[in-house]
Amino acid sequence: MSAFSLPRHVAIIMDGNGRWAKNRFMPRAEGHRQGVLALNRVVEHAAEVGIERLTVFAFSSENWRRPGAEVKMLMELFAQSLSRWVKPLNEAGVRLRVIGDLTAFSDKLREAIEFCEKETSHGTRMELNIAANYGGQWDICQAAQKAQVAGETVTPETMKKYLTTADVDLLIRTGGECRISNFLLWQSAYAEIYFDSALWPDYSAKELDAALSWYETRERRFGRTSEQLTSKAS
Ligand code: IPE
Ligand code: IPE
Ligand code: MG
Repeated sequence: MSAFSLPRHVAIIMDGNGRWAKNRFMPRAEGHRQGVLALNRVVEHAAEVGIERLTVFAFSSENWRRPGAEVKMLMELFAQSLSRWVKPLNEAGVRLRVIGDLTAFSDKLREAIEFCEKETSHGTRMELNIAANYGGQWDICQAAQKAQVAGETVTPETMKKYLTTADVDLLIRTGGECRISNFLLWQSAYAEIYFDSALWPDYSAKELDAALSWYETRERRFGRTSEQLTSKAS
């Protein structure tokens, strides 16, 4: 893989945990637990290949609509995972951040988030953003509100300062659905979008490499013509 065409920011909609479990006559919770293991594999590989920033969708602002028991299970799994991640993330040089509206979370979960963010804050190899209670529309609104409070005119440039994360180069969705589900709406304006039928618990380095190879074949024109890009390169 040439460093030249490696995406700097990869975002992943980790979908398909429930179906993975259902296919095995297991409870959905098992799919989510296996999903965490898939995330661990992908984080390790992304850091190894040199991705600078990885943002993963863990819980959307719409996921509160799920049955109470599933929401509770997901919150517990999140808190437990945060404490387990500190050591391996530090070893891999990965800095963790949680993006989303954290006001909805329990004090205990917010403390676990703060602890993990602080403990991994010196990682310089890769930034891992976990999107939790995240919605792209919320992100845009909170950024516009912050710009307004700071007395700044809302422009694309000022918005960049206040959005939770930077522009995405490669957006991957697993689980076969072809929608964005209110993920990084602003930041995906020019993302290459890759839909993978693999269910998230089955995802590993091999699937990520396939997405990265596909990305390498894309011509990112940003409104220009192909000829303009070719003449610029030569
Ligand atoms: C993604 O898997 C995980 C979360 C949204 C928390 P799903 O739970 O949506 O799995 P499917 O789509 O039902 O298979
Ligand atoms: C999107 O998955 C959110 C996460 C992966 C966390 P969903 O499975 O909730 O998406 P929809 O509602 O089917 O679009
Ligand atoms: Mg789903």
